[in-house]
Amino acid sequence: MKSKYLIRTFDRNDWLFELDDGTECVHQLTLPIGPYEKNEMSDTIYHEGDSAAYHQHTDGFETFYIAKGCVEATIRSKRCILTAGDMIHLVPNTPHGFVFLEEGTVWRELFQGINMAQGIINKNRIKNHYEGLYFQPEFRRRYLSLARNINREPPVCEDTAKEALHEIRTPQFSYSTYRFGGIELRQKVGRWECGNIKEIWQANLNKGVRLSWDVPYGEWELFYLTKGKIRFTILDEEFVAEPDCIVQIPPYCVHRMEVLEDAALFDYGCPVNLLALLEDYTSISANDPQRLQGEGKTSEFLLKYNCNITSW
Ligand SMILES: [Fe+2]
Repeated sequence: MKSKYLIRTFDRNDWLFELDDGTECVHQLTLPIGPYEKNEMSDTIYHEGDSAAYHQHTDGFETFYIAKGCVEATIRSKRCILTAGDMIHLVPNTPHGFVFLEEGTVWRELFQGINMAQGIINKNRIKNHYEGLYFQPEFRRRYLSLARNINREPPVCEDTAKEALHEIRTPQFSYSTYRFGGIELRQKVGRWECGNIKEIWQANLNKGVRLSWDVPYGEWELFYLTKGKIRFTILDEEFVAEPDCIVQIPPYCVHRMEVLEDAALFDYGCPVNLLALLEDYTSISANDPQRLQGEGKTSEFLLKYNCNITSW
């Protein structure tokens, strides 16, 4: 039986809803969580030549991952071409617009502080029930203002290498990389870029790695697997996640992972102060290793950074 914690992006049975307005087709994967509307995910499937006009948001954070296809991105009037595996992270008031260059481009979206699901429901309600209203200037001005969205003039663009834009995170990009015991952790998005609410890391995990969170704690977790196979055990449910699967773990659900095939996993809502933890652990190990020795010292250290892992 299919687990309630597993979201297979490729299986419509796992979508919360689907909205196709003739241009874009949205598969809602998760809903925003908690006061900061964190961990909302959807896929938008675009046709070749579709576009998102130049705009910016006064609030909220957008992280886009190109799961399939090819996109021309314009950010701060700088234009570049992005392909599958590239990620974009946008903080509030970053101007951006896109042209989707390949039929069936899969634009995998992660939102914080936006509630895009409600936005899409609103847009479809207006378009389906009130002919022409969506394009009426005064209505549109109020609609966009409530959506905290600012439409911009088409920019005069300058072509740029994608690596030159700090918003673009190529597969090679990492702010900091840490390696230990079959695990490689690569920081893709910093806490300073998410209003201090989360971090985004990619974990490359070798076959055989086992991780456990055996003590219940009050955070939501959101993982996105792009490579390999991982067996998850969450409370009393067990399942295997494969590429293009999302795993959402609610609070107070003890969980374990066992890597069955070399895997790449994004931690999309990392509640741990993980960069600080890894830097401080490196520092203490080099300068004063005695501090981490003795009964309970390691878990005391981890909890200081909101890290609830119990074995690795
Ligand atoms: Fe946007």
